[in-house]
Amino acid sequence: MRTQIGIVGAGPAGLMLSHLLHRAGLESVVVENRSRQYVQERVRAGVLEQGTVDLMNETGVGGRLGREGLVHRGLELRFAGRGHRIDLFALTGGKAITIYGQNKVVEDLTDARLAAGGRIVFSAEEVSVHSLDSESPSIRFRAGAETVEVQCDFIAGCDGFHGVCRPSVPAGVLTEFDRVYPFAWLGLLAEVEPSSEELIYSRHERGFALHSMRSPDLTRLYLQVARDEEIGNWPDERIWDELQRRFATHDGFRLKRGPIVQKGITPMHSFVVEPMQYGSLFLAGDAAHIVPPTGAKGLNLAIADVRVLARAFSEFYTSGSRAALTGYSETCLRRVWKVQRFSWWMTSMLHRFEDENAFDQRRQLAELEYVVGSHAASQSLAENYVGLPMD
Ligand code: FAD
Ligand code: DHB
Repeated sequence: MRTQIGIVGAGPAGLMLSHLLHRAGLESVVVENRSRQYVQERVRAGVLEQGTVDLMNETGVGGRLGREGLVHRGLELRFAGRGHRIDLFALTGGKAITIYGQNKVVEDLTDARLAAGGRIVFSAEEVSVHSLDSESPSIRFRAGAETVEVQCDFIAGCDGFHGVCRPSVPAGVLTEFDRVYPFAWLGLLAEVEPSSEELIYSRHERGFALHSMRSPDLTRLYLQVARDEEIGNWPDERIWDELQRRFATHDGFRLKRGPIVQKGITPMHSFVVEPMQYGSLFLAGDAAHIVPPTGAKGLNLAIADVRVLARAFSEFYTSGSRAALTGYSETCLRRVWKVQRFSWWMTSMLHRFEDENAFDQRRQLAELEYVVGSHAASQSLAENYVGLPMD
């Protein structure tokens, strides 16, 4: 098999890249090691920045997003028993976020690619990448008894944090920067009407909690738990009781309860690799960087990377210039580090840390008071939350 750009991974980064390349008249093959059903049912992020929504609309994959996405013009920061609304719309000159599950983004992009005759190989086994330092790299995988090789001009490593592309770069080329947090999020999906119209980020002495949603009858909730916590220790009643405590307000807020249909624990980690490229390999999305989910940025950052990458490939194939490809990493990293900073800051401001003392707790509350009380500070949160400019 031959193609121009071989893409490893059919997550948001790989699929959006393949879609953008197709629109630019370029060919790609996406190789994914999971089944189509598995990829589409994975429950993950849910907040789309304005720029991500605009990109989906501009490129013809915004139909269902327009019908089913929930546009939010504000969010709530809750602490010391009180809620404070951050008016994202007013503070950013008319920008908003849209609540739309990552699984739907993946489904919409997969449908669009397949309808346009795009090639996506699901359930590929033993995926590996070769000759990355040459102009004819390849992706190899097993399909049943057959070994398939995809010859490419370039490879895009969109295979997430645990993928094969980043570890295939020779030792000593990449520098890793990371921070591991001493806690995780227990995330769940419940069949119950949301208890608030907007997202609630709640800081509490017992730990952070987040109220989000997927639709008028599906609520998404998150709870800070210990990093090594096991889901078996959290029967549904315990989860609801703990959530109720962490969202409690002086005016008697009640969290609506319903059947929990999905739950899981995700450890929190900040990670960046520099540079995001080696030879003919370009890393994008979680393969190159991950953020703690408090800023709702992982998916949006993945989309921002592939937007830059698609443009760079397009420039190369139209003009022969490698300038944008050479500058890919530098262009992306400028934004990546700003988003890392914001995600770290939101995480630090809202979570309980094991080693914190009374001073740290007072400082955390003072920071929250400052953010909700100062126009400048609220505006800084808002402009980061709705999404920094794409370039
Ligand atoms: P991914 O979505 O990880 O896609 C990578 C794809 O590559 C996957 O389909 C994978 O199956 C495939 N792959 C992996 N290895 C191979 C291989 N060897 N060969 C071929 N294919 C391979 N962000 C938020 O903002 N809020 C959240 O609540 C949130 N929750 C999350 C929960 C979990 C459990 C995880 C892991 C992430 C979460 N994130 C969240 C982050 C967000 O989902 C990611 O940032 C986003 O998925 C990045 O997209 P991506 O395409 O770069 O990577
Ligand atoms: C959701 C996830 C997040 O990480 C976040 O900060 C806000 C909302 C969600 O899944 O809806």
